[in-house]
Amino acid sequence: MTPALPSVLIVDDDVDFAHAAADFARTRGFRATLAHSIEESRQLIGRDGADLMLLDLELPDGSGFDLLDELDLAHHNGRVAIVTGTPSIESAARAVSMPVVDYLIKPLCPVQFEALLADARARTPRPLPSAFGGLIGECDAMQGIVRDLCKVAPTPASVLITGESGTGKELIARAVHEQSARRGKFVAVNCGAIAPELLASHLFGHERGSFTGAANRHIGYFEQAHQGTLFLDEITEMPPGLQVYLLRALETGQITRVGGLDSIDVNVRIVAATNRDPERAIDEGRLREDLFYRLADFIVTMPPLRARGDDVLLLAQAFVDRLNTQSGQRKRLAPDAHRVLLQHSWPGNVRELRSAIQRAYVLSDGDTVKLAMPGRRVAPMHHDDTTVMFTVGMTYAEIEREMLLKTLARFNHDKTQTARALGVSVRTIHNQLARLDDDARDGSDA
Ligand SMILES: Nc1ncnc2c1ncn2[C@@H]1O[C@H](COP(=O)(O)OP(=O)(O)OP(=O)(O)O)[C@@H](O)[C@H]1O
Ligand SMILES: [Mg+2]
Repeated sequence: MTPALPSVLIVDDDVDFAHAAADFARTRGFRATLAHSIEESRQLIGRDGADLMLLDLELPDGSGFDLLDELDLAHHNGRVAIVTGTPSIESAARAVSMPVVDYLIKPLCPVQFEALLADARARTPRPLPSAFGGLIGECDAMQGIVRDLCKVAPTPASVLITGESGTGKELIARAVHEQSARRGKFVAVNCGAIAPELLASHLFGHERGSFTGAANRHIGYFEQAHQGTLFLDEITEMPPGLQVYLLRALETGQITRVGGLDSIDVNVRIVAATNRDPERAIDEGRLREDLFYRLADFIVTMPPLRARGDDVLLLAQAFVDRLNTQSGQRKRLAPDAHRVLLQHSWPGNVRELRSAIQRAYVLSDGDTVKLAMPGRRVAPMHHDDTTVMFTVGMTYAEIEREMLLKTLARFNHDKTQTARALGVSVRTIHNQLARLDDDARDGSDA
């Protein structure tokens, strides 16, 4: 996904100067926006911030310092350069006393401007490499997520990712690790897929003989993720008692193996995920509030695919391209595919899309990939979310898949409730979802 260009905001009532500066910045790969008053600049800063702001002092509706007083400079990510035509010792002294503020005098010398831009560019996070799990998305929400994560990833901040099933939470978790430059491994633990009574020893490890069946010492996920990232998926499925231990480990940076006595230092960055609403999970007693605050230095909310506009088209095309590359074929999406893609609500999100493309690709005879959407094929006359219609000719795998996705959607992607409704374990749900992923992946590896 292409991240936004570094940005410069030029706040100056001298329209000619502002335009000249904007053009200068644009030719150097910046996105430039202009404001001619404090009021206008306020709106622009609120909307998308700026990596660099050129700020005039005498503006029609006040002094540039008024704007600086409003900005919380200590937490402002961008740099501010005051560029004034009416310099004074007083204003220079005031500017110099503020963090991240430069003081320059008009006419602005190109060499100085160039240096400011170079500095802003250097501080703008690196674009996400495409190797990063192939995260695709250009809608504002996804761009915003990537922009924020570029800033958060290199810090030790914990990250909590929420969002429906199949929205890419794990992909994001891996991306955070890859962008973090942490030396250790990325270790993923699905708290909902491990029997609760075994979770402690999986996380913290155990000493030989610490319980029946513990024949050997076992190094837990925490130690495996030392200097790296521990991804705690489905965090709300962790028993509350264990959440207490987890919190203690995070606060002290130390763990003790089950059946052991020694405290072991661990340096682990935590990324957690859930498809529940964290606040509700707290109310329901599934997530301890104190742990939540420790996990949620930064919260990422993955939008459902149906709220990502044309991203569904980009993703579909990317999946077809990938399949073409891997199979050496040159199939194309049918001309009416976009209509189908945009109409379906994708309750299983990107995972569902990926499987649908995969299936259509394999089934298409010629070079045209025709999409028979589950929504159309399964229940053309049932627009409620509670009915699934099976037609003769569908495979059991297809029936299982439809039932799973519809039930997940019906229960708001709550896997525990879905499992209960389907009469299977949460683990089975996870396995089925993983299988859908694998099917898509196998197909793409074909
Ligand atoms: N933006 C994206 N670009 C490309 N592929 C994506 C994107 N988002 C998700 N995928 C793919 O969709 C599938 C599901 O993503 P992922 O496993 O990260 O979802 P999840 O939110 O963790 O789901 P669950 O809650 O069910 O665990 C994966 O195969 C992933 O690679
Ligand atoms: Mg996941």
